[in-house]
This record gives sequence, C-alpha cells and structure tokens, in this order.
Amino acid sequence: MTGQASPPARSGPAGQGTPAESTGPPQSTGPPEPTGPAEPTGPAEPTAPAEPTAPAKPTGPAEPSGSPRWRGSAGSAGPARSGGSAEFAGMAALVTGGGSGIGLATARLLADRGARVAVLDLDPTPAAPLPGRRADVTDDASVRAAVDAAARDLGGIDVLVNNAGIGARGTVADNDDAEWHRVLDVNVVGMVRVTRAALPHLRRSGHAAVVNTCSIAATAGLPDRALYSASKGAVLALTLAMAADHLREGIRVCCVNPGTADTPWVGRLLAAAPDPDAERAALVARQPMGRLVSADEVAHAIAYLASPHAGATTGTALAVDGGMAGLRLRPKAADR
Ligand SMILES: NC(=O)c1ccc[n+]([C@@H]2O[C@H](COP(=O)([O-])OP(=O)(O)OC[C@H]3O[C@@H](n4cnc5c(N)ncnc54)[C@H](O)[C@@H]3O)[C@@H](O)[C@H]2O)c1
Repeated sequence: MTGQASPPARSGPAGQGTPAESTGPPQSTGPPEPTGPAEPTGPAEPTAPAEPTAPAKPTGPAEPSGSPRWRGSAGSAGPARSGGSAEFAGMAALVTGGGSGIGLATARLLADRGARVAVLDLDPTPAAPLPGRRADVTDDASVRAAVDAAARDLGGIDVLVNNAGIGARGTVADNDDAEWHRVLDVNVVGMVRVTRAALPHLRRSGHAAVVNTCSIAATAGLPDRALYSASKGAVLALTLAMAADHLREGIRVCCVNPGTADTPWVGRLLAAAPDPDAERAALVARQPMGRLVSADEVAHAIAYLASPHAGATTGTALAVDGGMAGLRLRPKAADR
C-alpha cells in the first residue's frame, strides 16, 4: 500500500447516546469469538422501537451531488499508517450481522484499526463492549431507527458493512414461495434497507465505503443451494449497480465472496448433518486450499475494501475462498 490516502479528520462521537436498545459502550476489541446465536429461521424478534431520528454530527460540508470527491494523496488531510492502528482513525463504521461470525470479526478488526464501530444485529450483545443496535434488516422502521441512532452514537457513518444474512438449503423444488421471499428479504432487500438509511450519513464522509458480504455461491454453482445462490447472485449484481450509482457521490461499493467459512453458521450446519465429520470433510475437500476460510480472513478482506487506502477500488468482488472460484487443481495423486 502506498499510504497516500488519509482518513478524514472527524471528531469523536457526537455524544454517546444511550437509547434503550444500545447494548454497550463504544469501542475497543472484545473477547474471542463466541459460538453465536442460532441462525434465525423465522420472523425476527421484536424490533426496536423507532427512535427520534437524530442527524449525525456533520463531519464536513456537504458537497454538491454529482461531484467526485475522492481524497487521494493530493487531498490528504493527515497521515494514516498503512495497516496500522491509525488506518481507520477518525472514521465510523456500522456492521450488520455484527453479533456473530464474519460480522463480529469485522467489527472487532475495524475497531482494532482505529474506527469507531457499532453493530446492528438481531442480537448485538456478543459484540459488547462495541455499541450494538438491535434491529431486524427486514423491518424498514427498525433499520432506519438503528442506523440513525448508530450514526448519532458514532458521529456519522463512513463505512457500512452489509453482512447480515441467512442460509437456505435445497433445489428449486424444495422451498416454497414464502421461504424464497423470507431469504431474499433478509439477504438482498435487507442490504437495500440498511444502505438506503445509511446513505445520507455516507454522503457526508470524505472516505465513504460500503462492503457487502456476498458468497462463492454467486459465482459458482453449488448443489442444494438454489435459493441461497440466487440471493447472493443478486448481492453481486446489486454491488455493481450501487458502485455505479454512488461513484460520483464519493461512495465506493465492493463485496467479498467468501468460500465456506468456519463460523457459527457453518457450525450449525455441521451439527444438523447426519454425520458432521463427513460433512465437514466434504466442505473442506471442496476448497482447493484444503481447509475452511476463517472469519478473520474474511474480516481482513472487508477491512481492505473499506479502507481509505483502497480509494481507487470500487465495484470489486474480492474472493476469499481458498481458491475455490478460480483454481482447477489436478488430483493430488496425478501430481506425483
Ligand atoms: N459462513 C460461510 O460459510 C459464509 C460463506 C459465504 C458467505 N457468507 C455470508 O457471510 C455473512 C455472515 O455469515 P456468518 O457465517 O458470519 O453467519 P452467522 O450466522 O455467524 O452471523 C450472521 C449474523 O447475522 C445476523 N442476522 C441474521 N438475520 C438478521 C436480520 N434479519 N437482521 C439483523 N441481523 C440478522 C445474525 O443474528 C448473526 O449475528 C452472511 O451474509 C453469509 O451469507 C457466509
């Protein structure tokens, strides 16, 4: 990295609001990843009451719509150590699905690198002491209240990580219409709702970035994952469209495409399999690297895409999949 771009000189949180559903004080990294809550299979828990919408603390003059305002080396406002703890200093990040797995690892990593971080989740408590906002991404009012409250807590939003998602098994023959609507509502429309609510805040940032958690399922045909794959294919297309739409507003939009990642989600899948060991071996064998991806590895890819140092990167899908999308290895025996 060149270390040329610099985070904005944004002041601290605009008062650490203590609305009812805030689950913790701001910042600092937390304990090791917990096993996480059960994957939601039905309608989400009651959502937080709508709060008065509080504007984020203005972090700079609003620039005219349509005016590119990338801050590269020429516009640097101060030093940012590449990869160091100052990389996200002065920046604020909101991570959906930050209560478990990839989202939790990402929230902690961004905080570690100097960002003020809030988590939006059905259950944000595992992310404590990072401030959490309880919200269901399928409920627009809940999302708007949580995003605005998080922006108020953090003093704005520079980085949005749209990561909340759920799985689905089966071929097109196996899931009814209600299940299709439920999964698409979380995995696709959920990202739309959160981004829509965050856009006014992102537009005020000098280094705005959105990173969506997509999947290998968007680019490779996986058996028994028709609905899930369709949802992630939509996320890939949505990422590109959003990158085009918001480029001239200075908002970069990218996604990560993880292979099978060792998160509580996959833990639940394995636990539900008739032979968990055999199922794990099959998942591992599918990845050329011969192991599952870790949540931390995905988090580092998300942090890269979100970083001011990636200021020239937008509309990019970054595979973090042990080689699954791009490699075609010969069988081990054939290499001897
Ligand atoms: N684990 C994998 O193998 C893998 C692979 C590729 C992509 N992904 C994607 O990564 C993302 C995170 O997956 P993970 O493995 O960390 O899963 P996880 O189950 O460990 O975490 C998902 C989080 O999302 C939250 N969530 C679910 N529905 C929500 C809703 N309606 N509103 C708010 N929050 C909600 C959950 O409460 C949970 O905290 C998902 O988008 C998933 O599709 C995972």
